[in-house]
Amino acid sequence: MEIKKKIKQTWNNWRASNSDAVKILVTGGTGYIGSHTVVELQQAGFEVYIVDNLSNSNIDVLNGIEKITGKMPVFENIDCTDYVAMDRFLSKHEGIQAIIHFAASKAVGESVKKPLLYYRNNVVSLINQLELMSIHHIKGIVFSSSCTVYGQPDVLPVTEAAPRKTALSPYGNTKQICEDIIMDTIYSNDQLKSIILRYFNPIGAHPSAYIGELPNGVPNNLIPFVTQTAAGIRDELKVFGSDYNTPDGTCIRDYINVVDLAKAHVVAVQRMLENKTKKNVEIFNLGTGRGLSVMEIIKTFEKVNKVAVPHQIVEHREGDIEQVWADPTYANEELGWKAEESVEDTLKSAWKWQKYIMKKADK
Ligand code: NAD
Ligand code: WQD
Repeated sequence: MEIKKKIKQTWNNWRASNSDAVKILVTGGTGYIGSHTVVELQQAGFEVYIVDNLSNSNIDVLNGIEKITGKMPVFENIDCTDYVAMDRFLSKHEGIQAIIHFAASKAVGESVKKPLLYYRNNVVSLINQLELMSIHHIKGIVFSSSCTVYGQPDVLPVTEAAPRKTALSPYGNTKQICEDIIMDTIYSNDQLKSIILRYFNPIGAHPSAYIGELPNGVPNNLIPFVTQTAAGIRDELKVFGSDYNTPDGTCIRDYINVVDLAKAHVVAVQRMLENKTKKNVEIFNLGTGRGLSVMEIIKTFEKVNKVAVPHQIVEHREGDIEQVWADPTYANEELGWKAEESVEDTLKSAWKWQKYIMKKADK
């Protein structure tokens, strides 16, 4: 609490001496994590500019954001791999001070089938942002990385110092390549800064239920599958294996509330703009520090939402990691950020969101 107060105080002082609202570009800002981050940025007083090509999101998300904050962010439908369009956008909206770069393709299975799509989209998008930062005098970039870079860690909980393991998918490989590109670029140019955030498993929705995760087609991730099964859209949830070397035999992950995650981006941007970074590239794990099994998630979801999730144990899913959870100490102490929401409230928010989108679809 103390650290948080201090951060807020210094930030308020910094803003007072930089009277105009600070402009931030959020790429992929209509996506799941991006939209929640836009809300937190606006609520912290930033002026937010979104570019998104809507390849995995819906323009209606902007209305959800406006309903929560009362402010419609500036939005343009641009593909981040289009250098000329991005350059034009940044010239039109001059004065952007930092980028939060979410835009990427993220479906692990699809990346195995369409690797070049993933390498082009994720890597070229990042290179464009980095090149344009120097041209447009943008100081820093926050990058969405993933705990996928650790693979199955040798030691749990996993710290930022743990070695990265060979990626199990082209998607995972793009995150490692992007991290390397950032490091090489920032080391070659001491005017630029970056904070790389390695997310664990983001889940849940905004407590208002005006924004949340909108999976395209059949969900890949656990929670959208759980909520759709509870809602009767899917007959049953397949639990991928119950003979892992874990207490109940199902896989363990570190599930982090998406609003908590979004708040970490605000703190990261503030840290870069205030020149508080210890190094020009910093890496932080964003997780709760607590691992939960698939069965614990199902049982907790059923209990807090008083709804059944029919499920059946099936074979392992290829490429699944047995167990991984974060050591978030560095983020807690150095960023002054901590995951706060309980898994119970997070799973309630996921269910509230599922009901909200179904009600909306009925209208
Ligand atoms: P998302 O698909 O909901 O959001 C990504 C957004 O980027 C979408 O709105 C999509 O339309 C947009 N986009 C994709 N390619 C684009 C391009 N070339 N130009 C412009 N817009 C483009 O995904 P998310 O869950 O919000 O993830 C955001 C970021 O976090 C991604 O980089 C993802 O790899 C990373 N990440 C996500 C998770 C997770 O479990 N959700 C975990 C770790 C890391
Ligand atoms: C969680 C757990 C499954 C669905 C993926 C990406 C990773 C990162 C986050 C971006 C696992 C089990 C799931 C189902 C199940 N994304 N499960 N039945 O696999 O930890 O990570 O998303 O960077 O890169 O790989 O997340 O939500 O798919 O699975 O039993 O129908 O739920 O086996 O143990 P995962 P997930």
